[in-house]
Amino acid sequence: MSNDNPNDVLFETFTLGKLSLPNRVLMSPLTRSRSSQPGDIPNAMNAQYYAQRASAGLIISEATQVSPQGKGYAFTPGIHSAEQIAGWKQVTDAVHQAGGRIHMQLWHVGRISHPDLQPDGRQPVAPSAIAPEGAKTFVSADSGMVDIPEPRALETDEVPGIVEQFRIGAENAKTAGFDGVEIHAANGYLLDQFLKSDSNQRTDEYGGSVENRIRLTLMVTEAVTKVWGKENVGIRVSPTGSFNAVHDQNPVETFGTLARHLNDIGIAYIEVVEDSFQGNHADGRPQSVIDAIQAVFKGGYIANGAYTADEARTRIGKGQCDLVTFGRPFIANPDLPERFRLGAELNKWDDSTFYGGDAKGYIDYPALAD
Ligand code: PHB
Repeated sequence: MSNDNPNDVLFETFTLGKLSLPNRVLMSPLTRSRSSQPGDIPNAMNAQYYAQRASAGLIISEATQVSPQGKGYAFTPGIHSAEQIAGWKQVTDAVHQAGGRIHMQLWHVGRISHPDLQPDGRQPVAPSAIAPEGAKTFVSADSGMVDIPEPRALETDEVPGIVEQFRIGAENAKTAGFDGVEIHAANGYLLDQFLKSDSNQRTDEYGGSVENRIRLTLMVTEAVTKVWGKENVGIRVSPTGSFNAVHDQNPVETFGTLARHLNDIGIAYIEVVEDSFQGNHADGRPQSVIDAIQAVFKGGYIANGAYTADEARTRIGKGQCDLVTFGRPFIANPDLPERFRLGAELNKWDDSTFYGGDAKGYIDYPALAD
């Protein structure tokens, strides 16, 4: 639809916690694997990339490991060293100078890792010693995609240490000047591995029943909320996602229960990946899970999953979501909200430059004004 319509719902403001967002067109967390080495440190090029996209209603940073153990791919940035905090400060300063708002996505990959990426070549950790069938990672620029070996099940008394890793990440994100944080509980990474029935075969208080499987995510949320205040915290979930070999036998029950507890804590928003990963919702969006979440969660609802501008308009207009995060379109269009506003043509993304590399396919996509 060609637009420039003063009543376009995409450009209605929205109050998300303490932030006033100028539009509903948000930037998804997007792994781009371009931090400086050694040390997984954000750099000036990363700052330029985010600042170019500052017209998003809110930017959610790429997934960022809260600890060395939480790393699962070469070149992803961390938020556990002084150098990384300083690197991220460059990013948040650049985004704020350009008039934008940015949350950090706090990440622990769990079993989606490899000894070559872990401190002292250790085995990656998970709720249970179950390898993610078919999942792959890359451990260096020239490793290619490699298989992921079987992880080690965390001991019960190690679990509070995971909460502490997230808490420290949240503290560091504050020092780095972010406006808030998003807890990554989606896409088959550590918290999702605990949430979902097939990857969590534990018999202690962190496995088995729904209340047990959601316990770690709630402990992390409580800890992060203590650092940031509940109005500056969101979470990302992917109830029906199978990316990274996860599956839950009853996502309505698991994620409806989780959402009810998150509502009790009072966090600002829940971002829901409404498909498998990267836009696979050929069978429609998982409406029964969406309904179960929305019935109990009264904070902001952010929808994700290969939305077009018009689908976002329709669903926001009907009250089916408050905000939408856009991933691949934001990679290729630094001025995506303006293009949506005008109904302008979109640049096409180049998926060969998504992960790793240099400025090409990163900071060289033109805005309309260029
Ligand atoms: C990835 O690096 O492929 C990746 C990272 C985080 C996600 C999904 C995919 O949530």
